[in-house]
Amino acid sequence: MRFPLIAAIPIFLLTACDTSDLPLQERTVAPILTSEQAQDEFTFARPLEARVTHVALDLDLDFEGQRVEGTATLDVQAAEDATEIVLDSDGLIVGGITDGNGNELEYEIGETEEGKGEPITVQLGELTGPELQQIVIDYASGPEAAALQWLDPEQTAGGEHPFVFSQGQPILNRTWIPTQDSPGIRQTWEARITAPEPLTVVMSGISRGEPEELGANEGEASRRAFEFMMDNSIPPYLIAIAAGNLEFAELGPRSGVWAEPQMIEAAAEELGDTEELIDAGVELFGEYRWGRYDMIILPPAFPYGGMENPVLTFLTPTFIAGDRSNNGLIAHELAHSWSGNLTTYASWRDGWLNEGVTSYIESRITEAVYGESRAEQEYALSYASLEEAVGEAGADDPTTSMRTPEGTSPFETIGPAIYDKGTVFLRTVENIVGREEFDAWLTQWFDEHAFQPVTSEMFLADMREKLIGDNAELEEQLMLDEWVYGTGIPENAYQPDPQAFAAADGAAQAYAEDGTLPAARDWESWTAASQRRFLEELPGELSDRELAALNERLGLSETGNNEVLFLWLEAALRNEYDPAVDQAEQFLSQVGRNKFVAPLFAALWNTGDWGRPIATRIYEDTRGGYHSYTRNNVDGIVGYESGEAEAGEA
Ligand code: BES
Ligand code: ZN
Repeated sequence: MRFPLIAAIPIFLLTACDTSDLPLQERTVAPILTSEQAQDEFTFARPLEARVTHVALDLDLDFEGQRVEGTATLDVQAAEDATEIVLDSDGLIVGGITDGNGNELEYEIGETEEGKGEPITVQLGELTGPELQQIVIDYASGPEAAALQWLDPEQTAGGEHPFVFSQGQPILNRTWIPTQDSPGIRQTWEARITAPEPLTVVMSGISRGEPEELGANEGEASRRAFEFMMDNSIPPYLIAIAAGNLEFAELGPRSGVWAEPQMIEAAAEELGDTEELIDAGVELFGEYRWGRYDMIILPPAFPYGGMENPVLTFLTPTFIAGDRSNNGLIAHELAHSWSGNLTTYASWRDGWLNEGVTSYIESRITEAVYGESRAEQEYALSYASLEEAVGEAGADDPTTSMRTPEGTSPFETIGPAIYDKGTVFLRTVENIVGREEFDAWLTQWFDEHAFQPVTSEMFLADMREKLIGDNAELEEQLMLDEWVYGTGIPENAYQPDPQAFAAADGAAQAYAEDGTLPAARDWESWTAASQRRFLEELPGELSDRELAALNERLGLSETGNNEVLFLWLEAALRNEYDPAVDQAEQFLSQVGRNKFVAPLFAALWNTGDWGRPIATRIYEDTRGGYHSYTRNNVDGIVGYESGEAEAGEA
């Protein structure tokens, strides 16, 4: 038998705080929180009855069939009186389920709920009891497995080999892994993955040794097996895989980057600050507990900027600018090594605990490595984006709350109310209590809750206990509840330095007043953040003549920075600027990053008669190349319903 019956699981004692006292075995990887705020409405699992503690995958990557196939062996802990365990699935094709000794277990696959998938309820039979037990699920991913994107060679830099990557967060891993897919049910894992040569498989776990050569079946490419393990318990959305024609470049003793050979040099150059970024994180908030910090540059179809998969951050290639100016992204994904991966929201409703805290740490790491003025600029951009969102929605709107309203889709836990408001909140607290004290508190928060699920209530209670004590004045000054549960921007918000963008703001004002363009030489000397600021402050309406002049003076369509290019294309499209259409089309046919793609389609669509036919035409070509996340968003924008040959009218 490949997997030992009792896997090596680090022992974390149940904490006194907020946990179940059910007689689950003591070797629990992490507590299951029982407070109402910790309940995850997007899982079928009932972890207090029976929970998964460890996942062992043995899978083959089938590029022809575009599916994974094999077994998942789950270590289970069940309460004394439990008779079944409920797993999450979304379209999985189950062949059979046995216990660790090969005895068939009865199971039932329930009805599918939109956006949530379906439960697999397994009868535990003789397995009930406090001992670690195993169930083995023989399965394959279904045809629409949303976590997996299988790319044709044409969608890669090399153009010769296929590629596959997964995106688990928030609730997509249930489309390729049958486990309890909820962030509060932490699990350790290991995997053995086979793939055809010359593809290399990488995962968000530590690689175990060299790949094993398996030889070939007749007429097929020979295959290799790759093994990985993660023995820190993690929320299951962090299990991730990618495979393609990959090379590795070492960046330092703990870090390196995987990329296609065509990209590896530019990637290694852009990521040259990685060791410094890690050092800064450690210096600020304590030990880096994951061993390695590697990254992979995915093909441009990757739907996010970055994803903090442990020991292997997944990255869009679109952040590469040649001057490291978009490396805030790296600081962000690295920061998740403390907030998100080490301490994880127990439910999707506390998105800010992962993303807001991470955005704050990102800014602190940025400050340490790239200097105060760059961090101040990024803070000013965050603040502006929060203000804009609150301005648009209204200060009373529930979507401006950091704790998101019940029923909010986990896919919607991205946005200014979570990322930017979280940063502004923590900056505000830092400023009031003082940096030294705040850093010490945050560091102990990570230490005390390492590898555990957390909630807003726990975060605030800890602050009150250790940072505020009985200082009533300080309590009043901080306005903690208003920040976390209230809407809008509380009045004590720490303001960005009005001078952070003195040059860009001055130039934007001059332009708005009488059309004065910044001097090309000034523009080139600005930081990318300043350039973004200027473009974000442009008047909403611009004529063809004005757009042409802007582009000619500032070389916008030629910029090497995709954040800047995106803002240019958005301004051009929303103003029905014909000369930009070709470039926008080219961009949209290569890049699948939702943050760029969705707003560009929206800009086209919102113009009405001018842009809708263009959007429809482009989308017909590009839709198939987008990840399900981006596709779902753009479908909503252009009123596309599957089964249609073309996008319909809104
Ligand atoms: N973990 C997020 C991406 C995410 C959040 C996926 C919620 C699914 C649900 C990641 O760390 C992230 O925030 N990415 C940003 C980076 C940016 C804020 C620097 C992105 O992709 O744009
Ligand atoms: Zn993030």
